[in-house]
Amino acid sequence: MRLRYSDVTPSTLYLSRRELMAGALALAAVGGDAASTTAAAPAPAGAALPATPNPAYRVDDAPTKFEAASTYNNFYEFGVNKEDPSRLGHTLKPRPWHVQVDGLVARPKTFDVEEILKLAPLEERIYLLRCVEAWSMVIPWIGYPLSALLKQAQPRPGAKYVEFTTLKDPEQFPAQKPTFFGLGSLDWPYTEGLRLDEAMHPLTLLTVGMYGHVLPNQNGAPLRVVIPWKYGFKSAKSLVRIRLTDTEPKTAWNKAAPQEYGFYSNVNPNVDHPRWSQGTERRIGEFRRRKTLMFNGYADQVASLYTGMDLKKNY
Ligand code: MTE
Repeated sequence: MRLRYSDVTPSTLYLSRRELMAGALALAAVGGDAASTTAAAPAPAGAALPATPNPAYRVDDAPTKFEAASTYNNFYEFGVNKEDPSRLGHTLKPRPWHVQVDGLVARPKTFDVEEILKLAPLEERIYLLRCVEAWSMVIPWIGYPLSALLKQAQPRPGAKYVEFTTLKDPEQFPAQKPTFFGLGSLDWPYTEGLRLDEAMHPLTLLTVGMYGHVLPNQNGAPLRVVIPWKYGFKSAKSLVRIRLTDTEPKTAWNKAAPQEYGFYSNVNPNVDHPRWSQGTERRIGEFRRRKTLMFNGYADQVASLYTGMDLKKNY
């Protein structure tokens, strides 16, 4: 049995996605970003990963502390609590690892992750990350534009979308094990998607590291995407497949609660989540709330992708 929107959303109650997934309606009185304060042990960073800082992609705000960015995570394959991914992340084995790039491409190929690492020069880019739960961070990622990989695959003329799929393996991701009544679970594997022009946008980063090091398991090792103008859940972790298609891909959160998590999910302070405001955010490590910016501050670069679109309808 899968969770349906109608199962879980009394609109007068305020539930975080954590409680939504746990089906814990009784806990409804907490705020969406009032995440657990249980301290998780800081994760040891992986090996150092040299990358050239790209000055075109940086923000004025100070980066979030690595300890916070690697212990306050959403990675539901490990559980619904923020500290679960760093506590349980050791069960994920990021080597050997393969990524299938296929669908509407002239050159489908299954890549070894080592090959992916060498496909284009690694850059360091400092991006804002805005979670749909109304908290944010500033993270120095390491990677290169996803377009470099997609160009190698040579999209065919009919390709309009890109689907991302996370590994499905309950031995490595404990929360993928079937639960009583199927509650507390997304429909695994986690999938996400972008329009092809969004995926080819220079900001869309195929990401293999952060803070000068190999990506920790809890942040999506060995590779993920990062799309800084969209809510964080679009940035799918631990990818095993990148598929080009002519139809809009089904996405994990949209399947769980379609009224709340749309395909586009662009950061937009003018379109509230049905159960909380998106007008402000809590920057992790800060006390005062900040105003949320249109497209998370990347409007100059991405607004033209949505010319003429009703962003309330296409939430
Ligand atoms: N990818 C997978 N496979 N599973 C997830 O639960 N959570 C998303 C996204 N990618 C998630 C995922 C959400 S909600 C956010 S906010 C970001 O990862 C968090 O990334 P971070 O933990 O590196 O900060």
